[in-house]
Amino acid sequence: MSLGFFTVLRAQYKNLPISLKKEDCAGKTYVVTGSNTGLGFECVKHLAAMGAGQVIMGVRNTSSGEKAKATIESQTGCAESVLQVWHMDLSKLETVKLFVEKIKGLDRVDGIVENAAVAMGEWVVPNKDDGLEMNVAVNVIGTIYMAVLLIPFLRAMGKQLGAVVPITIIGSIVALSPEAKSCYDKLGSGSILEDVADQTKWEPLFHHFYPFSKFLLYMFLRELTHHVPVSKSGVIVNFVSPGICYTELDRNAHGPVGRQVKMARMIMGRTAEMGSRTLLHGLVAGRESHGKVLSECEIKDYFIPDWMKDEKALTMGNRIWEEVSAKLEQLDPGCMEAVTNC
Ligand SMILES: NC(=O)c1ccc[n+]([C@@H]2O[C@H](COP(=O)([O-])OP(=O)(O)OC[C@H]3O[C@@H](n4cnc5c(N)ncnc54)[C@H](OP(=O)(O)O)[C@@H]3O)[C@@H](O)[C@H]2O)c1
Repeated sequence: MSLGFFTVLRAQYKNLPISLKKEDCAGKTYVVTGSNTGLGFECVKHLAAMGAGQVIMGVRNTSSGEKAKATIESQTGCAESVLQVWHMDLSKLETVKLFVEKIKGLDRVDGIVENAAVAMGEWVVPNKDDGLEMNVAVNVIGTIYMAVLLIPFLRAMGKQLGAVVPITIIGSIVALSPEAKSCYDKLGSGSILEDVADQTKWEPLFHHFYPFSKFLLYMFLRELTHHVPVSKSGVIVNFVSPGICYTELDRNAHGPVGRQVKMARMIMGRTAEMGSRTLLHGLVAGRESHGKVLSECEIKDYFIPDWMKDEKALTMGNRIWEEVSAKLEQLDPGCMEAVTNC
């Protein structure tokens, strides 16, 4: 089935199930990033209401995180000890490392939801040293780095718990869109990371850079899951599209990006609560979801267009895998080796 307008429209109006059940959730520990608002907030609310033992809310603004925690406590009646607000900023990799170190101190971890992301309306570079634009720095590099640091730990945790532990990464259907393809088609044959840092080249197509960042993320994860199967790592990594939802995602997306988001929402937006059910599904989707695109609480790899499966795309996937792995390995020696030798 191709990903046409009417396919998306029909899907958006579906009433989604709450796949994670109380009995699966009670007493367990979860980590949800970007959970002070939007889909992450609603996901934490579900987990708290279903009796999770502990939920770590990974946020870049802790006062906003504490407000969200208080709201969830008053709405669900969960004990004060259940929710913890920890700082992390995906554009600052040292904070991601510290966040993961703290996670490693937990007695148990049953699932991770990497939900945090940005959709930028203008070119902002958070770190002058690599010159990467914010969509790429946060949605691609920061998100991947966190997963990479977690995999060896979650493998050991899974053995301890006698379970496979999921990392649910929140992507988007726009990763598979013509907008993402318009940037993909313009990529040169040299270094991808150097190429995407070239503001002059990409400024005319910048309104497609958020979809493109989700595309780059997916292409890396697809390679990662080939290199690191569940049988080897004991960790499931899946890619969830939550659908078009009423959240604050467009707060930085002025101009054409913001207009596109608002228009899509007006026509077919779901509530953030309904969208958050896809995050819960990612946590229970199981081994068969490893490396797969999940949408409307189902595995929907059949949404992946042919241009993402041909020879050129496979080569590109390999290039992004090699490059991002080398970048992370240089930044934090041994981190990729720990994943691939899992
Ligand atoms: N809403 C949609 O229609 C839609 C559609 C497809 C995919 N998604 C995806 O769904 C996920 C959740 O988005 P949302 O719609 O709930 O948007 P949102 O309301 O804007 O929430 C995004 C969250 O990510 C956090 N965040 C942003 N940059 C960060 C950084 N550098 N480090 C740590 N946290 C950061 C935000 O924190 P602050 O509050 O501090 O900024 C916020 O908590 C994202 O991955 C998004 O791409 C959303």
